Order: sequence, then C-alpha cells, then structure tokens
Amino acid sequence: MNGLTWFDTQVVQARDLTPTVREFTLQFPQAVTAAAGAHINVQVMVGNLPETRSYSIVDSHPNGHVVIAVKAVDASRGGSQYMRLLKPGTRLRASEPVSLFEPAWNAPEVLLLAGGIGVTPLVSHARALTQRRRPVRMAYLVRNAQEQAYADPLRDLLGEALDIHVADADPAPDLHALISALPPDGQLAMCGPIGLMEAVRSIWAQQGRSRANLRYETFGASGHHPTQAFTVHVPRLGIDVNVGTGQTMLDALNAAGVATLSNCRRGECGLCSVDIIAANGTIDHRDVFYSPAQQAEQRKMCACVSRIAGGSVTIEPAWRGDPDWGRPEILQRTTS
Ligand code: FES
Repeated sequence: MNGLTWFDTQVVQARDLTPTVREFTLQFPQAVTAAAGAHINVQVMVGNLPETRSYSIVDSHPNGHVVIAVKAVDASRGGSQYMRLLKPGTRLRASEPVSLFEPAWNAPEVLLLAGGIGVTPLVSHARALTQRRRPVRMAYLVRNAQEQAYADPLRDLLGEALDIHVADADPAPDLHALISALPPDGQLAMCGPIGLMEAVRSIWAQQGRSRANLRYETFGASGHHPTQAFTVHVPRLGIDVNVGTGQTMLDALNAAGVATLSNCRRGECGLCSVDIIAANGTIDHRDVFYSPAQQAEQRKMCACVSRIAGGSVTIEPAWRGDPDWGRPEILQRTTS
C-alpha cells in the first residue's frame, strides 16, 4: 500500500494495560527506527476480507521490537476485534513505520492533549521532547480511573507537567484555559475522539492561533454516532452499494467498481471526498479535512472514514472515468 515496505512480524508479547486497552510487542525481522508519533499499518481480517488498520508506535527498539496498543471499541469496524485476539507467536503483516505526526522541536512550549487511547502517539512525543529538554506539558483525559494506560511512565517523564483528568471523578476540563496558557507561538499536539478534536480546533480558531501550530493525529475510527450499516446510491452509475459495519464507504465503493481515489485513509487529506446529492439519515463526519462549517453544509464527505447513521446517502463520486470500466460484471466480461 502506498509504496510502503511490509514485513512479516510476530507477536512476542501481549498484555492488558487497562480493562479495554491491550498492548502488543511485535518482532520485526530487522531493527526499526521510528520517529516519535509514527505509526505502522497492519493487515487485519474483517469477516473474510483483508483490511488495513493503523496503530501508533508507543516505543521501538534496535532489536526490532515495536510496541503498539489497541483499544476494544464497541463500534469497531472489526480491526480492534481481530487485533485483540492476537497471541504471542501469531504472525502479523505490518508496514515500516510511517511518520506523519512528529513533535514540534522548536516551539516555545508544547501542550500534548490526549483523549483515551489517543495517548499512544503522545507517549513517544513526551519521551522525545523530554529527552531533548523541550518545554512540554500534557493533559490526559480518561473516562475513569481504570483506563489510565501509560500513566506511570508518563508521570516518570513529565512529573508535575502531567495532568490526568478522570471524567467520572473530576469536573470537565477547561480547554479554553489549557490552550490560553500556551504562549502565542506554542504548539498543541493532540490525539483523541473526534468530539474533543473538534472542540479544540474551534477554540484554537477563536483564539486566533496559527493553524500550523495545531497538530493532530486521527485514525478516523471514532464518530459522533455508533457505527451502522448503510446504503450508498450512485445514480450516475445506476449502482446501490451496501456498506457493512466492518467496512468503510471507500472500500465498499471500490469493491463495487466505483473507483474512488484515496491516500491517507484517515480523514486527513480529502482525496476520497464525494459529493452528497441527498442523505436519508444523519451524516457522521469523522474526518478532520473539512471544517465544522463545511461539514454542516452536508455537501461533501470523506468516504474513507465518514458514514451515515441509520439510512442511506446518494452521492456523485469524484471518479469521471468510463462509467462501465471497473464495474465487476464488465471486468468479468473483459477478462474472461
Ligand atoms: S483518503 Fe485521505 S481523507 Fe480519505
């Protein structure tokens, strides 16, 4: 995928960090050097179909060990269920590390903001920034006291610069105050649920801060609504496509022969965007490519992550090729 080098790795250790977060150590066949904030892609099976999922690297070692952590997600598209069943000795196809979320080395101060399992890329940020003695503080938001994955190593790294906020015990975090405490050129790196990320983006804009100083990592897995199956109507091609709960709209369209371009597959680049003609059901925008105002217009959606909550959507795909080319029955006809 995307020109990456892939490896046959082996799970060498698996352990529960919290009731819902399980950590895996993978043995790569060669030394792995991963930049802070990097992730790997892994090949999982959802149903009987191979799919790709991305997981942030918590740590990596010269002996080829790469550590990732996976949360059990109720509304999972199937990847986390597959991953959590892996045991020591299991083989797993995994890509080389991909670095898209490096820390800001020269900022006067960095605020790391983690929500739940979003802590994983920020553990490596905290480690790298403290090793370079950069000014860093961290706010870590968890649902309850049992869900504090990596709290101890983070306390060792950050000491009093770490603030853990437990949702069912503490008052709601004051995001305005957290961000206001950053110097004007301070940087914020965050990873967490889409609601948290949208709130932070909105406050960041209200405070007139530079967009370049706001960095975020998202794997497009969390939405505003539970993951449900839905139908996509493509009237120009006369096709109706069913999207299962374990599938993305992008994969379902491509499987149906509606060739849809993609790159990041994480709701960040916008390449997979399709035009919405009509929606019967709520559009669950899970991307960070479109602004909240653009999402509210309901004119476009990112097929790689966004979905419909209970209903269907009628779209005009971006693809302008031969309307017959790529359709399964046509491919069958032309290749048999
Ligand atoms: S492929 Fe990048 S936003 Fe969908």
